[in-house]
Order: sequence, then structure tokens, then C-alpha cells
Amino acid sequence: MAPGPPILLILLSLLPLSHSSSLSPHTTAISPTKSPSAPTPLTSPAPTHSHLPSPSSSSSSSTLDPKQIRALQSLNIPTSKDPCIQPSFHNATACDASKPFRHLLSLRLSNCSDDLEMSITALKSLSTLTNLAFINCPISPIHFPSELTSNLRSFTCIKSLKKLTGVWLGRMQNLTDLTVSGVTVNASGPSIILGNMKKLKSVTITASNLTGYLPKHWHLNVTHLDLSGNKLKGKIPSSLTQLENLEFLNLSSNALNGEIPSSFGDLISLQNVSLASNSLSGAVPDSMAAMPALVHLDLGTNQLNGTIPKFISEMKGLKYLNLEKNNFNGVMPFNASFLQRLVVFKVGGNTNLCYNHSTISSKVKLGIAPCDKHGLPISPPPARESGGDSSGGSSSDDDYSMGDDINHKESHHHGPSKVVLGVAIGLSSIVFLIVFLILLSKWCG
Ligand SMILES: *[C@@H]1O[C@H](CO)[C@@H](O)[C@H](O)[C@H]1NC(C)=O
Ligand SMILES: *[C@@H]1O[C@H](CO)[C@@H](O)[C@H](O)[C@H]1NC(C)=O
Ligand SMILES: *[C@@H]1O[C@H](CO)[C@@H](O)[C@H](O)[C@H]1NC(C)=O
Ligand SMILES: *[C@@H]1O[C@H](CO)[C@@H](O)[C@H](O)[C@H]1NC(C)=O
Ligand SMILES: *[C@@H]1O[C@H](CO)[C@@H](O)[C@H](O)[C@H]1NC(C)=O
Ligand SMILES: *[C@@H]1O[C@H](CO)[C@@H](O)[C@H](O)[C@H]1NC(C)=O
Ligand SMILES: *[C@@H]1O[C@H](CO)[C@@H](O)[C@H](O)[C@H]1NC(C)=O
Ligand SMILES: *[C@@H]1O[C@H](CO)[C@@H](O)[C@H](O)[C@H]1NC(C)=O
Ligand SMILES: *[C@@H]1O[C@H](CO)[C@@H](O)[C@H](O)[C@H]1NC(C)=O
Ligand SMILES: *[C@@H]1O[C@H](CO)[C@@H](O)[C@H](O)[C@H]1NC(C)=O
Ligand SMILES: *[C@@H]1O[C@H](CO)[C@@H](O)[C@H](O)[C@H]1NC(C)=O
Repeated sequence: MAPGPPILLILLSLLPLSHSSSLSPHTTAISPTKSPSAPTPLTSPAPTHSHLPSPSSSSSSSTLDPKQIRALQSLNIPTSKDPCIQPSFHNATACDASKPFRHLLSLRLSNCSDDLEMSITALKSLSTLTNLAFINCPISPIHFPSELTSNLRSFTCIKSLKKLTGVWLGRMQNLTDLTVSGVTVNASGPSIILGNMKKLKSVTITASNLTGYLPKHWHLNVTHLDLSGNKLKGKIPSSLTQLENLEFLNLSSNALNGEIPSSFGDLISLQNVSLASNSLSGAVPDSMAAMPALVHLDLGTNQLNGTIPKFISEMKGLKYLNLEKNNFNGVMPFNASFLQRLVVFKVGGNTNLCYNHSTISSKVKLGIAPCDKHGLPISPPPARESGGDSSGGSSSDDDYSMGDDINHKESHHHGPSKVVLGVAIGLSSIVFLIVFLILLSKWCG
């Protein structure tokens, strides 16, 4: 029985290999809505739950409202295991603790098949929901019963429901959180959607081809505003700067123009801001000197001009700074110790900007030229012609951006370890295979 143990060892050594293949994009996760058959019920008998110390044991006598169970079944959500016991199947459901029947508070539908239909009956019986999310559910848009729209506090629609209108979204007036991404939103502007949502705290409407102008009136409790990747035009209204609770602002990749409002620094809670990839012009407003919480500042790919203000180098918490592809001029006011503190710094693609070679080594690739004694660029920056031509040298700027170098360093933390793991597993399998073959040949001969 010599070959017995080696075979076992080989099989064991192959196990981690098949395990590591699950790191690939291919996934074997079961979709709740594509399999018509429900999974096998729990093998443990239900009464044993009563002496489990889990929080659900207190309400073990109460289970989900049968009407809601039927609604879940009509949506192909497995109900053989009580959907109220956490963690539920893919965390798709969560319930309150009411008696005799519990009710659904949150429901997340992911990866639906496109022939799934939400009936009005199912939606009516699901009106206790406060959180509803559709993720990769390209089903037809549905009319929500008014009980549901008034109860909803959080609504998420990512690459789902085919197409939305501003009027449809705007009916959910009690929302505190709205997330829409990767689905066309037909609206005259964000005001139609947000105008009556007086309790909003977090708004994300991205990659939705949303048109129109930014609202002039805002509800002041908003802390998170992301309208990036749309077709918004016009100026950034100065009324936006009244949002003193705003911590996150992303207006990148739109068609905004005009100047950054001079009162921008009134956004005293702001930590992360991107106004990148618009057509903003004029100078960086002086008021921005007083933004104590700023961590991430992205003004890249606009037509901002004037000198880069020195106060940026006094922002203590700054980690990410992108000023690339603008029309800034003069001497860049940063020294090497400031740049070292940043995780990402990009300043290339500003033709009339230069750096002082007595404060910054020319070994640091910035994508801008050194200054002469008058503070003018000595030579045109490498591989780039004029500031207006952003499509021309797009591939070159990566070579000169310090940020990318640092990013690469960071990603190496992950890179080699996986490679080393793979090589180790591969080598050990080969060794086992050789041992096995030797033993096999001895046994046969
Ligand atoms: C949905 O599909 C994506 C990608 O195919 C997968 O990563 C995710 O886990 C799936 N989610 C559920 C709940 O099945
Ligand atoms: C469900 O939520 C728990 C706790 O938040 C988490 O640990 C678990 O990974 C989640 N399961 C799925 C399938 O998302
Ligand atoms: C918002 O919720 C309250 C109760 O929480 C309700 O009275 C009101 O009708 C809801 N508003 C809308 C527009 O649905
Ligand atoms: C937005 O519009 C572009 C064309 O203008 C189209 O290619 C893209 O698919 C649209 N995106 C969405 C989410 O509707
Ligand atoms: C958006 O809605 C308006 C009016 O409701 C309509 O005229 C227009 O065709 C719609 N646009 C698209 C792209 O569906
Ligand atoms: C804004 O937030 C404050 C504090 O969290 C709260 O008291 C107030 O009711 C909120 N206002 C609205 C309109 O939600
Ligand atoms: C803003 O949004 C864009 C695209 O949606 C994204 O690439 C970028 O990282 C975001 N910036 C911030 C500061 O979150
Ligand atoms: C804010 O920016 C920092 C630095 O770039 C980043 O690490 C962090 O994840 C960002 N936070 C959010 C909410 O995007
Ligand atoms: C910046 O551009 C604006 C027009 O957008 C112009 O009026 C202004 O003079 C320019 N300022 C500098 C310092 O070039
Ligand atoms: C670099 O600039 C910062 C901020 O302007 C300043 O506090 C620091 O003293 C400077 N360091 C050197 C070595 O000049
Ligand atoms: C460069 O820095 C040195 C030393 O700080 C200073 O004397 C010189 O004037 C600066 N040159 C320019 C063009 O700003």
C-alpha cells in the first residue's frame, strides 16, 4: 500500500490550487433569483434555536408575515430558511421585531433574471420596507404603491430598472439616502429629483446621463453629494457652499463651466472633493485656504489659471492633490517635504507652470519644466505641446506623475504575495508528483 499516502498528499496539495482559482473574475456564487428551486432547508430542527444566545432567539416565536413570504417567493428569494434570521441569504433581507409576525425592513435584489416581474400585489405587501436596493436587476420599471414610497428611507438602483425618470425618483420624499448609478435618468435636472427630499443626507447619481443645471436650493443636512459622470452644465451655484455639513463632493466628468464660487471655502466640513474633468476657469479661490478637513482635492482637467496658491501646502491633512491639465502658470509653490507627505500628486499638463530646481530635485518626475531665474519654464515640458490639447499627449502624463509611481509601490504589496503563493503551491505540487512517480515506479518494478 505504498502509493496510498502520496496520492492523498497530491490531492491535498491540489486543493489550494482550486481554491486560488476563485480569485479570478469568474464566480460560482449562486444568484438568488436565477435558480427557480429553493435551496435545501436547514438540517437542524427549528426548536434548537430557543437555547441559542443569538439576538433572534428572543423573537423566535415570531416569524415573517406570510404575505411577505409569498411576495419574496414571487421574487425568487429563497424562504426555506427564515429570511428574518441573520445573516440572511446573501444578506438580502432584514426584518423588524414585531409580533405576531415580523415585517421586512430591507430588501436587496441582485442579479435578477430579466424576465423577473414585480407584481403590484407583491409591492403592496412589501410596503413596510424602509430600505430597497436593486443591483444588476434589469427588470422593467415599476410603479411603487404610495405606502412604499412614503416609507422608503434608502433607495439604491445600480444598473437596474432599465430607465428612470426624475419624476418617479422625486416621489420618494422621505429618503435620507439615494443611490442611482449606471442607469439613464431622464430629468430636466437634479432639482426635479431632489427638490422635495427634505431629509436627504447622502445623494449619489452617477453615470446616469443626467442633464440640466445644478440646483440653486439645497437641503442643508446633506453630507455626501456625488453627481459625477453626467451631463450637467452651467456654473457651480454659490448656494452650494452653504452646505456646511458636506463632507464629500464629487462633480467630476460633467460639463460645468464658469469659476469656482469665491465662497467655496465655506464648506468647512469638506474632506474629499473632485471638480475634475469639467470646463471650470479662473483662479483657485482664496477662501479655500480655510478648509481644515480637506484630504482629497482633485481639480484636474479644467481650464483653471493663475498661480497655484501657496496655502495648499499648509493643508495639514491633504493626501491627494491633482492639479494636472489646467492653465496654471508661475512657480509651483511646493517643496520636496510637502510632496513627500502626499500619497498622490499630479501637476503635469500645465504648460506655463514650472518648479524651482533649488527646492525640488529634477529626479522627481512632475511633468512640468524647471524655472529660469525669472520664474518661467526653461524648456517646454517633455512630450507635451499646448495646455489646450489634452487628447494629444494623454499617454505621456502617466510617466511624469509622482502619484502613479506611489500607487505602483502600493499595489506591489499585493502583487508579489499572490505570485509567491502561486509559485509555492505549483512547486509543492510538482514535488509531490515526482515523489509519487518515484514511489509508483518502485512499486511497479
Ligand atoms: C451578483 O453577480 C456578481 C458578479 O457576477 C457577484 O460578484 C455577486 O456576488 C452576485 N451577487 C449575488 C447576491 O448573487
Ligand atoms: C452578511 O453580513 C455579514 C455581517 O455584516 C457579513 O459578515 C457577511 O459576509 C455578509 N454575507 C454576504 C453573503 O454578503
Ligand atoms: C413621510 O413619512 C411620514 C411619516 O413618517 C408620512 O406622514 C408622510 O406622508 C411621508 N411623506 C411622503 C411624501 O410620503
Ligand atoms: C449615456 O449616453 C451615452 C451616449 O451619449 C451612451 O453611450 C451611454 O450608454 C449612456 N449611459 C447610460 C447609463 O444611459
Ligand atoms: C425624456 O422625457 C421627455 C418628457 O417626458 C421626453 O420628451 C423625452 O423623449 C425623454 N427622453 C428620452 C431620452 O427618453
Ligand atoms: C438635520 O439634522 C439635524 C441634526 O441631525 C436634525 O435635528 C434635523 O431635524 C435635520 N433636518 C432635516 C430637515 O432633516
Ligand atoms: C469622483 O467620481 C469619479 C467617477 O465617478 C471617480 O473616478 C473619482 O474617484 C471620484 N472622486 C472622488 C474624490 O471620490
Ligand atoms: C477620501 O480621500 C482619501 C485620500 O484620497 C481616500 O483614502 C478616501 O478613501 C476618500 N474617502 C471617500 C469617502 O471617498
Ligand atoms: C484667467 O482666465 C480668465 C478667463 O477665464 C481671465 O479673465 C483671467 O485674466 C485669467 N487670469 C490669469 C492670471 O491668466
Ligand atoms: C516646505 O513647505 C512647508 C509648507 O510651506 C514649510 O512648512 C516647510 O518649512 C518647508 N520645508 C522646507 C525644507 O523648506
Ligand atoms: C528658488 O528657490 C531659491 C531658494 O529658496 C530662491 O532663492 C529662488 O529665488 C527661487 N527661484 C525662483 C525662480 O523662485
